[in-house]
Amino acid sequence: MRKSGLPGHVGIIMDGNGRWANIRGLPRVEGHRQGVHRSKDIIDAANKAGLEALTLYAFSIENWRRPDLEVYTLMQLLDMYLRTEIDFLFENGITFRVIGNRQRLSVGLNFLIEKAEELTSQNRGMYLNLAISYGGRDEILRTIRKMALEGYDMTKIEEHDFAVNLDTGQRDTVDLIIRTGGEQRLSNFLIWQAAYAEFYYTDTLWPDFTREEFYMAIHNYNQRERRFGTSAEKVSF
Ligand code: IPE
Ligand code: IPE
Ligand code: MG
Repeated sequence: MRKSGLPGHVGIIMDGNGRWANIRGLPRVEGHRQGVHRSKDIIDAANKAGLEALTLYAFSIENWRRPDLEVYTLMQLLDMYLRTEIDFLFENGITFRVIGNRQRLSVGLNFLIEKAEELTSQNRGMYLNLAISYGGRDEILRTIRKMALEGYDMTKIEEHDFAVNLDTGQRDTVDLIIRTGGEQRLSNFLIWQAAYAEFYYTDTLWPDFTREEFYMAIHNYNQRERRFGTSAEKVSF
């Protein structure tokens, strides 16, 4: 039986901010604000635990359909996050990347993203991908278009060539997906990368998600047997 140890790459669907606020009679934006605090804490926890990569789902391509005011405040929070956290990321050796459809983001946000990516590009610690305006299907289509434009012979394309051209680059496989907020679905998150991922669902709403529960999710992953389609005997040597 294969005990896989620490997952190399963890993806988190940070869901439940709106409900957290609703329960307290607060506007949804308060839930998002509290959610940002949780994200900072979990990034630090993941880095200290020694994960190779962490991908956080912050805003899906479908989330553009939310009311204008909510979209606007979410973009403001992302803007603020980048302005205030860039030093923390740099000093902690984290390599920051945004995955998703950047064409739909404002010029100002794109500028901050590029600045943060450039500043942290030589870091050697954990990779942090922030999924903004991200959809797995959109990512796959953008990748196909990009490769075709770059002159790849698409009739000869292999899995590996394709995978490294996705937004996630070399970190093209995710080992564990955590979803808070009680739903048990992928919502268009890392659909290629999660082909063999383990799942951890929790009813905890994202603004209540603690380091302790994060470590518990990782511990829970540790207990699992990953077979990748082979039989247990085959992977046990
Ligand atoms: C997740 O929380 C954050 C984003 C999708 C941006 P939600 O806003 O989806 O919160 P719920 O699911 O309505 O509680
Ligand atoms: C998924 O949450 C996207 C993020 C957490 C950013 P949603 O709340 O948008 O997903 P659905 O609508 O419940 O599938
Ligand atoms: Mg939700």
